[in-house]
Amino acid sequence: MLQTKGLTVRFGGHVAVNAVSCRFEPGTLTAIVGPNGAGKTTYFNLISGQVPASEGSVYLDGHELTGMSVSARTRSGLGRAFQLTNLFPNLTVLENVRLAVQATEEGAHLRGLNLWSIWQDHTKLIQQAQDILHQVSMLPQANATVASLPHGDQRKLEVALLMALQPSVYMFDEPTAGMSQDEAPVILNLIRQLKSDKTKTILLVEHKMDVVRELADRIIVLHNGQLVAEGEPSEVMASAVVQEAYLGAKPAALSSAKQESVV
Ligand SMILES: Nc1ncnc2c1ncn2[C@@H]1O[C@H](COP(=O)(O)OP(=O)(O)OP(=O)(O)O)[C@@H](O)[C@H]1O
Ligand SMILES: [Mg+2]
Repeated sequence: MLQTKGLTVRFGGHVAVNAVSCRFEPGTLTAIVGPNGAGKTTYFNLISGQVPASEGSVYLDGHELTGMSVSARTRSGLGRAFQLTNLFPNLTVLENVRLAVQATEEGAHLRGLNLWSIWQDHTKLIQQAQDILHQVSMLPQANATVASLPHGDQRKLEVALLMALQPSVYMFDEPTAGMSQDEAPVILNLIRQLKSDKTKTILLVEHKMDVVRELADRIIVLHNGQLVAEGEPSEVMASAVVQEAYLGAKPAALSSAKQESVV
């Protein structure tokens, strides 16, 4: 189980994430919603370690991660979709995924000491990398360099690299943003597949409400850095706080609309 306790970060005087305490259970997909600037990405950065917390703590399966580096957290099982800056732009798509597979513990076990086993292991690693590329429908682009990929393919590759790490916690920050209508379903299918495994802890920041409605077991709402609502999708989406915080409707506007309908 992933847990944050009083997680807070200040940028100058601005409190971007404000004392957020929350638990994320294995086998559960939690959607994190909230308006632009609410602190969703920053919350992810605090969990993954990309941004150090001003206060509060992060635990995974009872072990405290606070203060650990990004790579140490990754080794603990925390999977954050790679940013493009983590990729090797002049290597091919396949080579990038192969390196990610190799970086996992399983990959490390496969590494041998003599040339024959190195060659055999190399073949296994490539096979694994190809399997992952197949899952994200990117086999045709296996030999393209990362730098030459269009935006949508680069985003699919980020997800492929996340899969290669086989984490216990998957964190997706708007995974289909900027993708075409053909590309988005591939990623959503993958998330569905991960979900059907029922052992993974999945966190999904998503603006598209139809996606949230379909995939989320639970929703948390961030607003001005604070956790303002959490619960079952139907109840959270119907709540006044979400109508205001997420959909942008002012309570006054809501109540006057109600009055108008009464009139
Ligand atoms: N490194 C930083 N330095 C200063 N301010 C920052 C930094 N990172 C984020 N912020 C601020 O923190 C707030 C939360 O930003 P964040 O990107 O987490 O929002 P978000 O909920 O992900 O928004 P969006 O839906 O637009 O992606 C914003 O006001 C942002 O300007
Ligand atoms: Mg964001």
